[in-house]
Amino acid sequence: MVNKVQIDPATRRRGSPFFCVLSARQRLNRGTVRVLFVGDVFGKPGRRILDLRLRALILEHRIDFCVANVENAAGGFGLTPQIAEELLSKDIDLLTSGNHIWDKKAIIPYLSTQPRLLRPANYPVSAPGVGVFLDDTRCGVRVGVLNLQGRVYMPAIDCPFAAAKAAIEQIRKETPIIVVDFHGEATSEKQAFAWCFDGMVSAVVGTHTHVQTADERILPRGTAFITDLGMTGPYDSVIGSVTDLALERFLTQIPVRLEPASANPRFCGAVIEIDEQTGRANSILRLNMPAGG
Ligand SMILES: [Fe+2]
Ligand SMILES: [Fe+2]
Repeated sequence: MVNKVQIDPATRRRGSPFFCVLSARQRLNRGTVRVLFVGDVFGKPGRRILDLRLRALILEHRIDFCVANVENAAGGFGLTPQIAEELLSKDIDLLTSGNHIWDKKAIIPYLSTQPRLLRPANYPVSAPGVGVFLDDTRCGVRVGVLNLQGRVYMPAIDCPFAAAKAAIEQIRKETPIIVVDFHGEATSEKQAFAWCFDGMVSAVVGTHTHVQTADERILPRGTAFITDLGMTGPYDSVIGSVTDLALERFLTQIPVRLEPASANPRFCGAVIEIDEQTGRANSILRLNMPAGG
């Protein structure tokens, strides 16, 4: 059974807390919308490099709308309401997530009250939260964001292709500007998804593996695609965790508790320019930057 698409009416109600927070921003780009999508923010090192880099990137690339995947923002496992509020109080307009969103129990009631935090839309309808954002950016252009999760080497949840088809039909009634965060392990599944929805969405960006791929491109019908944005966090690590602890796990097969690493933080993500009328992507620029320089 396909999840019924849930678009929380609170996200569209003028005067809601959502609109109070998302204050107006000057229109920067004529005829286009520029989206910055930040790859999986991992622990304190990831949050710190966001603090260092984000404002300058927003100014440099004339960003209208900024999204970050934050499923590992709290100590490498999950997200707390305090950290979500901290991130949303900066220049990030929307938070997406994935399989780790459930790790911290305090996030579960928060998910039902915060429309600017998504969880994958293809979880069962009984799961708290929503997987679709549909509203105006700070510069007044309506955008849709859809968060999905793959099923290859991942927990068994509803079909992301079917959930996407239903959600995209709904979103396209209001805007052609649609960005998808496909949170998945297998490169094949992410590529297949992008080809399936080429021309129906503006961009498909992969998250979850914490390893950036160098395959950013515009598909023939105008969808920008990258298999994985990479991690915004410590790169002298095993996908964010302390190397020795991860090694111990692999060498002994004993479930050692992992801790976030700290060395060599990098900022990873992509800037996508989208035509406002058609919803087609004009360009995708991959970002992979150290903390300084
Ligand atoms: Fe992650
Ligand atoms: Fe994940």
